[in-house]
Amino acid sequence: MEEEFYCAMAVIIDGKKIAQDIRQEVKEEATRLRVKTGTAPGLGVILVGDDPASKIYLRHKENACKDAGFLSREFRLPRDSSENEVLATIQELNHDESIHGILVQLPLPRHLNTANIIEAIAPQKDVDGFHPYNLGRLFTGNPYHMACTPIGILELLDRHAIAIEGRDAVIVGRSTIVGKPLALLLLNRHATVTICHTRTRHLPEITKRADILIAAVGKPEMISADMVRDGAVVIDVGINRMEDGRLIGDVAFSEVLEKASYITPVPGGVGPMTIAMLLANTLNAAVLSLEPLNP
Ligand code: GUN
Repeated sequence: MEEEFYCAMAVIIDGKKIAQDIRQEVKEEATRLRVKTGTAPGLGVILVGDDPASKIYLRHKENACKDAGFLSREFRLPRDSSENEVLATIQELNHDESIHGILVQLPLPRHLNTANIIEAIAPQKDVDGFHPYNLGRLFTGNPYHMACTPIGILELLDRHAIAIEGRDAVIVGRSTIVGKPLALLLLNRHATVTICHTRTRHLPEITKRADILIAAVGKPEMISADMVRDGAVVIDVGINRMEDGRLIGDVAFSEVLEKASYITPVPGGVGPMTIAMLLANTLNAAVLSLEPLNP
């Protein structure tokens, strides 16, 4: 009798397709909102300086707004802008009733105090979810706006019906933009969460325990197959631009593919979800702004 040969290969999570689906859903919802209330969601974006990667992100964000029928206002401030100049732009957007979401592109030039600038954004317009008010609400398990990349990761898991409750989730990377808020989101969904970072000892032993392993470090291919448990779900947040122009994730994709049950590619995995969730947050901010009990 012929023996059946079974080669386990992960399902590749198509973030590009899921992001497109979400953007379509947001567009339809925004159309309904406009017809019902006359309000189009509005996003205000501030870029200080001319970092090339930030300029590319901004162009994508602007095009995404246009596609979804959102209003968008963009402010490009010179690299040597003072903190007061940035704060004045934020105040203008805070008071602009046609703007429901405000995003300050990070990283900011070093002479600017990022915390002061983020804290100047009206919390109900903080669609990045970086304001301490929104982080605090996430901390207490009663979230308002949540950071786009972490909720994008939850969407990828949910749309593949990957269970979170009770599972061991290991996050490598403790940034304020991804690692820390993601840990709270997963905790709120009843995962057992471990955060690893540069000072973590015995990293492979910890990553190997993960049912869900998330790499958000910014080191090309640092997660090798021997750090991954058989059948783990592997989410790669890294976007590392190599000298030859290729984009490489934090996960050694081709070898981990053979070990994981699900894996996100780079590009086309987590990346496209960030903008999709930014649109979803901005739509949500517009809807909430029409409610009388908006905080
Ligand atoms: N820079 C890199 N990612 C992000 C993000 O999600 N939001 C903002 N504002 N800046 C970023």
